[in-house]
Amino acid sequence: MKPLRHFLSIKDISEKEARLIFKKASEFKENRGKKNLFFLSSQTWALIFRKPSTRTRLSFEVAVRELGGEALFLNSQDLQLSRGEPIEDTAQVFGRMVHGIIMRTFSQKELELFAIYGNIPVINALTDEEHPCQVLSDIFSYEEKRGSIEGKKIAFVGDGCCNVARSWALAAEIFRFHLSIAAPPLYFSPIDNPFVTNTTSIEEACQDASLLYTDVWTSMGKEEEMQKRQIEFSGYQLNEQAVKVASKDVLVFHCLPAYRNKEISAELFKERAEDIYTQAENRLHVQKALLAWVVGKLDASLISE
Ligand code: CP
Ligand code: NVA
Repeated sequence: MKPLRHFLSIKDISEKEARLIFKKASEFKENRGKKNLFFLSSQTWALIFRKPSTRTRLSFEVAVRELGGEALFLNSQDLQLSRGEPIEDTAQVFGRMVHGIIMRTFSQKELELFAIYGNIPVINALTDEEHPCQVLSDIFSYEEKRGSIEGKKIAFVGDGCCNVARSWALAAEIFRFHLSIAAPPLYFSPIDNPFVTNTTSIEEACQDASLLYTDVWTSMGKEEEMQKRQIEFSGYQLNEQAVKVASKDVLVFHCLPAYRNKEISAELFKERAEDIYTQAENRLHVQKALLAWVVGKLDASLISE
């Protein structure tokens, strides 16, 4: 029997596997409207969310349906989990009733326990530590417009400790691009690899960058720090100044939701909105291909074509 595949971290895929996923995602995008029931036919996938979501929930629910499966959305507040039922028991029960779990939660450890006890594939739909589906899809979005990301300079302006920034920092080593983070020192990246640097200077981070990226200053779960963070990050906005020092053909991405005139200026968001909405749309196509990979049917589908 083949070992189970999970996608708990961006480190769970190799560059080669990511490239297969991107190839399939492009096909899914080109052939939108054509159902691909082969991949998840007769399967039920549970989405367990402990935090709010627009894009991740929507894209995964649509993805599962377009691949022939049923998506079952469960707000964790409605589950016995919220009354302290052990994860081990919850995961065992899910594993006996559904074919896979897509989970958004606080702790990465909780996700790992679901993977250990569920005996079904588990996908990380965001934890405090990582947002791998977002970054995998963002790399696809970058390459769709500009070609290979290898060797490029990517600037991340904002909270270098947040889930999205961490997945970018881990991805830098897999895809061999340079990630330059501009943040207050307390928010420098905790990820230590030769492809990541930190600076307090937005200008230095964005100089000659091919992609400028930002995320909210206050991630979900950190709401009580919002006021403090608004002060700490007030000098860390992505705006026209950053674009001026970047590469001429620089892209500007935001994972969304975006707060105008906080982490990104309203002017820059408006100017780059089309690319940012396409970035959001690509979550659907990439996650369809990711699901195909997780259930072990991606290689077969590419070989049979
Ligand atoms: N970017 C993203 O994951 O958005 P949601 O929080 O709306 O899912
Ligand atoms: N860092 C953000 C990402 C939202 C998609 C958060 O965790 O709230």
